[in-house]
Amino acid sequence: MTSSEIRHRFLDFFAKRGHAVLPSASLVPKNDPSVLFNTAGMQPLVPYLMGRPHPLGNRLVNVQKCVRTQDIEEVGDNTHDTFFEMLGNWSLGDYFKEDAIKWSYEFLTSKEEGLGLDARRLYVTVFEGDENAPRDEESYGIWKSLFEKDSIEGERIYFMGAKSNWWSVGDNGPCGPDTEMFYDLTGKYTEGLTKDEYFDHEDKQELVEIWNDVFMEYEKENGVVIGKLVNKNVDTGSGLERIVMAVQGKNNIFETDLFAQAMDAIKNIAKEKYNEQSARVIADHIRTAALMIADGVTPSNKDQGYILRRLIRRATVRAREMGFFEAKDELNKNDIFLDILNSYFDLYNNGTDYFVARTQPTSAPEAKIIIEISTEVGKFRKTLEQGLREFDKGLDAFTLFTTYGFPIEVTEELALKNGLSVDREMFDEKMKAHQDASRAGAAAKFKGGLADTGEKTMQLHTAHHLLLAALQKVLGSEVHQRGSNITEERLRIDFSFDRKMTDEEKTAVEQQVNEWIQTDHKVCRREMLRAEAEQLGAEMEFGTKYPDVVSVYVIEDEKGNTISKEFCGGPHVEQTAGLGTFNIQKEEAVAAGIRRIKATLS
Ligand code: ALA
Repeated sequence: MTSSEIRHRFLDFFAKRGHAVLPSASLVPKNDPSVLFNTAGMQPLVPYLMGRPHPLGNRLVNVQKCVRTQDIEEVGDNTHDTFFEMLGNWSLGDYFKEDAIKWSYEFLTSKEEGLGLDARRLYVTVFEGDENAPRDEESYGIWKSLFEKDSIEGERIYFMGAKSNWWSVGDNGPCGPDTEMFYDLTGKYTEGLTKDEYFDHEDKQELVEIWNDVFMEYEKENGVVIGKLVNKNVDTGSGLERIVMAVQGKNNIFETDLFAQAMDAIKNIAKEKYNEQSARVIADHIRTAALMIADGVTPSNKDQGYILRRLIRRATVRAREMGFFEAKDELNKNDIFLDILNSYFDLYNNGTDYFVARTQPTSAPEAKIIIEISTEVGKFRKTLEQGLREFDKGLDAFTLFTTYGFPIEVTEELALKNGLSVDREMFDEKMKAHQDASRAGAAAKFKGGLADTGEKTMQLHTAHHLLLAALQKVLGSEVHQRGSNITEERLRIDFSFDRKMTDEEKTAVEQQVNEWIQTDHKVCRREMLRAEAEQLGAEMEFGTKYPDVVSVYVIEDEKGNTISKEFCGGPHVEQTAGLGTFNIQKEEAVAAGIRRIKATLS
C-alpha cells in the first residue's frame, strides 16, 4: 500500500462512519500567535474542542500537515522528522472511548477497510490515574475485549502515568488522558511482553508509537488541570510516516515511499561520499523547507522564517560534506537540492494538494520553492566557507551563529569532528540574552509599550524614530526621549526640553520628517552587543534596562549617513516611503523640563 492509498483509506474509513472530511489547514496557524507551526491535527480545532459548534458537525476527520522542531537533533535516526502528516479523527461531544478505540483497532487491523496490520504486533498503554482523573479502567476493558475477540494473547496493555499518557498541546486548553498504540516493527514480539520488556523494546525503537487516542474532557490553565470541558471530546492522531513504515514493513521512515525517491536522488549526487545519517537530515529538512514555503513562509531572521532558514542551512552543511557543490558547475551551484525537490513535487502532487497554490492561482509554487531555497543556499554558501575558516581559527559558537549564521548544532558537529567541544552553557546564556532582545520585539514591548503591531502602528513607530531625529536636528542634540506611546491613530513622545517650542520650530520639525519620508530611506534592524550599540551612540531611553544583546534600528540615507539610530525591539516598516504626511497635532508640557508631542500620519 502506498502512502497515498493509506491517506485515502483513512479518510474513507472515517467518512463512512459519519465524519466530515476537512482539508489540511496551513502549516502556519491562522489565529494563534502562541505557536509558530501547527504541531498536531487538533490545533486548528481548539475552539471547537473548547465547545464552539463546528459548521460541519461533531464528527471530523483529516490529514493535517504538521511541523515539530523540538527534536531536530534526533533527525537522522529511524523515526524522527521535522515535518509530518497527522491522520486524525475527532468527536466533538459525540462518541467517546468505546467507538474511538474500536475504530482505531479496526482501521489498523482490518484487511478490507483498513491497513491489515497484525494485531499480535500491537501493544497499548492506558492512563493509570492521578489526582486529576481516575484510572482508565474503561479503556483497559475495551482493549481487553477487542484483543479477546480476536484471540490475541499475552500481556499487551499497560497502565502508565500522566507523564506519558496525559496529552495537551501546551500549558493551556483542552487536554485529557490518552491511550497510545505501539507497533512491533520487528515482527518478533507477537506473544505479549512484560511491562519491562515493552519499555526495553520501545527504547530501541523496535516498538514505535503509531496512534494516540486522547479523551479530551478536561481543561488546563497555566499547566494545571482546572476542570472539565463542556463536552467529552475525542482527539486522535496518527503519524502518517510511521504508519507507512509499519505497513510497508520498514524499520525506518526513510525507506518508505515518502522518502525513497529523495534518498535515491541524494545517493546519485553523493556517490562514494554518501553518508546515511546526513542523507536523512537533507531528505527531512528539504522536504520540510519546501512545504513551509508552499504555505507562504520565506527565510528570515525571525519566527517561522528563522526555522526555515535553519533547516536550509543545516541541510547545506551536510550537502557540502557529501560533495554536492562539487557535483554542480559554477552556474548551478545554488541548485544542489533541485533533484530532491523534484522528487517531492512528484510525490505530493500524487494524492495531496500541498504544492497547489490556493490563494493565487496564477503563481507556480514549485518555482517559488526552488528559487527561495537556491537563494538561501547561495547566501549561506558564501558565509559558510568564510565561517569554516574562522572556525579553524577558533571563533566561538555565538559569533559563528550571529555573524556567519551557523546553527549551533552545525558548530557542535564541526567541533566534534575536530576533537573540540562547544561550551553549550555559555552559548545558551548568550543566546538567551539575544532572544530576550528579539522577544522584546515579538511581544511588541517597545519602550513605553507598542501594544499592537498592525500596519498603521508600525508606520507610526517608524515616524516616531524620524521625529526624535528631527527634534535633535532642530532643537539640539541634548534632546532625548523620556517616554512614548503609540496607538493606531497617533504617536506620542515625551522628550527632554526646557521650553515651549515655537511655531517655526514645529514647522521645521514637520518639514524635516516629511522630507525624510518622501526621499524614501531604508529602515534596517541590526543585532549587536549593548556595548557596541552604546559606542555607536544609538539612542536609548532613559531609565530602561537593556539586555546584553540588543537590536538597533538604523535609518540611513543613500550616502550612508545615519539619520536615526535607536535601541529598539521593533517592529518597523522597511522603507520610509508610504508613511504619508506627518503632522504635529499638539505640543505641550508634561513636567518640568519635559515636553510632549502628539502627532499623526495622514
Ligand atoms: N493530539 C494528539 C497527539 O498529537 C492526538 O498525539
